[in-house]
Amino acid sequence: MKSISIDPQTCTNCGTCMEICPLSLIIPGSEGMPFMPDEVGAYCTKCGNCEAFCPEGAITPQFKTTHPIISEDDVHAITPGQMGVYMRQRRSIRNYKDRMADRETIEEILDIVRYSPSAMNNQPVHWLIIHDPDEVRKLTRLSIEWMRKIHDSEQMHPLKPVVPSLIEAYEAGKDPICRGAPHVAIAHAAEANPMAFTDSIIALSWFELVAPAFDLGTCWAGFLKMAASEHEPLIKELDLPEGHVVQYAMMFGYPKYKVQNIPGREPARISWK
Ligand SMILES: Cc1cc2nc3c(=O)[nH]c(=O)nc-3n(C[C@H](O)[C@H](O)[C@H](O)COP(=O)(O)O)c2cc1C
Ligand code: SF4
Ligand code: SF4
Repeated sequence: MKSISIDPQTCTNCGTCMEICPLSLIIPGSEGMPFMPDEVGAYCTKCGNCEAFCPEGAITPQFKTTHPIISEDDVHAITPGQMGVYMRQRRSIRNYKDRMADRETIEEILDIVRYSPSAMNNQPVHWLIIHDPDEVRKLTRLSIEWMRKIHDSEQMHPLKPVVPSLIEAYEAGKDPICRGAPHVAIAHAAEANPMAFTDSIIALSWFELVAPAFDLGTCWAGFLKMAASEHEPLIKELDLPEGHVVQYAMMFGYPKYKVQNIPGREPARISWK
């Protein structure tokens, strides 16, 4: 079955789609017009590049997708300078206001994030949004429970040197795992998919970059991710679909403090040939 249709009335035979298709599924047909043979339709990754680059709007996908609604004002709205400041200003946020992000805002962010690249356009990432702050605190408690096990065990574990201070902070009333964030975004996907981890990291990186445009701040939840991969009660609590694992997690909420300055970083290490 064909995965796209090409309107011969509007197609000007510019050849762009034939050049752009990453799998060369669109080939010259009669009189050199673009054509997708029936038998290759199944290989289409639904990347939508042919549709995106066709200057005449002659290509219509036949597969099910959800398109975004984009206002004219939003097109080309970012200059390189603005982009540089926006991205460099992002910081890991570890202090949050006592304010909830509403579900609509989170859905708006994820509606942008679903455009993050994935291997073969597989789009394997699913989201579990821990929206209830009490549930976030429960995840912290279960992570600390896991750390206590590591602490008490004779076995070597890479986190062994750091768990005592984290447990101590927790016992002092702090949240060293989710930093008191009201929400956590968990990217989960099939354990069997070898590219899912990379795709999830990319998706979460997008989440992290999109969030400040909605006044939200984020922080990668590395300890939570480790606990959610090893501690059975925490895995049970998350109740992911069969075969899915936590690929990574990110806490988020409204930042308590505003970023005032951009700190320094190592210069870009570049070599040229
Ligand atoms: C994979 C990964 C895991 C992280 N895990 C944690 C974490 O568990 N807790 C935390 O406070 N910060 C965590 N961070 C945040 C880093 O410490 C932070 O990105 C780094 O110090 C640079 O600061 P910046 O994000 O403000 O530029 C993590 C970052 C990454 C990329
Ligand atoms: S959607 Fe992507 S893979 Fe499918 S035909 Fe178009 S360019 Fe090729
Ligand atoms: S990109 Fe559009 S106009 Fe150009 S050949 Fe393909 S379908 Fe025709």
